[in-house]
Amino acid sequence: MSADGFAGGPPPGARHDWTIDQDWDDYTQAEHEVWLTLYQRQIELLPGRACTPFLKGLEALDLHRAGIPEFARINEELKRLTGWTVVAVPGLVPDEVFFDHLANRRFPAGRFIRKPEQLDYLEEPDVFHDVFGHVPMLTDPVFSDYMQAYGEGGRRAQGLGRLTNLARLYWYTVEFGLMQTAEGLRIYGAGIVSSHAESRFALDDPSPNRIAFDMERVMRTPYRIDDFQQVYFVIRSLEALLEASLQDFAPIYARLEGARDIPIAAIEPTDQVLTRGTQAYANSRAAQ
Ligand SMILES: [Fe+2]
Repeated sequence: MSADGFAGGPPPGARHDWTIDQDWDDYTQAEHEVWLTLYQRQIELLPGRACTPFLKGLEALDLHRAGIPEFARINEELKRLTGWTVVAVPGLVPDEVFFDHLANRRFPAGRFIRKPEQLDYLEEPDVFHDVFGHVPMLTDPVFSDYMQAYGEGGRRAQGLGRLTNLARLYWYTVEFGLMQTAEGLRIYGAGIVSSHAESRFALDDPSPNRIAFDMERVMRTPYRIDDFQQVYFVIRSLEALLEASLQDFAPIYARLEGARDIPIAAIEPTDQVLTRGTQAYANSRAAQ
């Protein structure tokens, strides 16, 4: 994940590309325990919920061996499978740094882990969100190509002033994406698979809308960072997502220039609706 508003360069101790050493030996036993607790909770929940590429990736990288994984160890297998590596960063990095890493098949991951009393609450993505949530999908050749294409697209969108629109694509796919499969809806978004509560909400709750993925529709839809999503977009397959991302975005950006944003819970006449949500959850939260 990336963020705007960085005044200077990398923080003290970080390299020019904002990477740091993971210093795996410095993690405490208590920190490893947090990983194991989170890992155990998710692994009990995700079979039948997460998509097959995610579960296969989790298996291939053996992410539960002894707490927080050592990036150097998982990188051997990840590199062999798709040519990707995980690099440690101190926290959020500027957009252009983030895009450059992705375009070069490097995934920047937070080094720190949340506190035991914060299992369900995160202000910034930590190593569990970044590695457990994101990295298994990077073992999939198609999804990993999509991530690289996103990094390349990010640099172009920045030049064209359309970063807000492109960030929505990232949010509703890489972070909160759902996928249609022969067995039913499955999760591939990192923000969902790394969250105990949203792993259930995204699939089971009657509140959110679930709408077939459409690139331009997604780019016009704002998102919320403070609570469960009010709308999820459902892709047909990873191949379809990659194909959509390889089209020329210039005509889409040109149309977005004059287009209004679509309110977060709205359903458009052109939407292919899988679930018309009640929005009961969001409404009850708003009333609090
Ligand atoms: Fe993320």
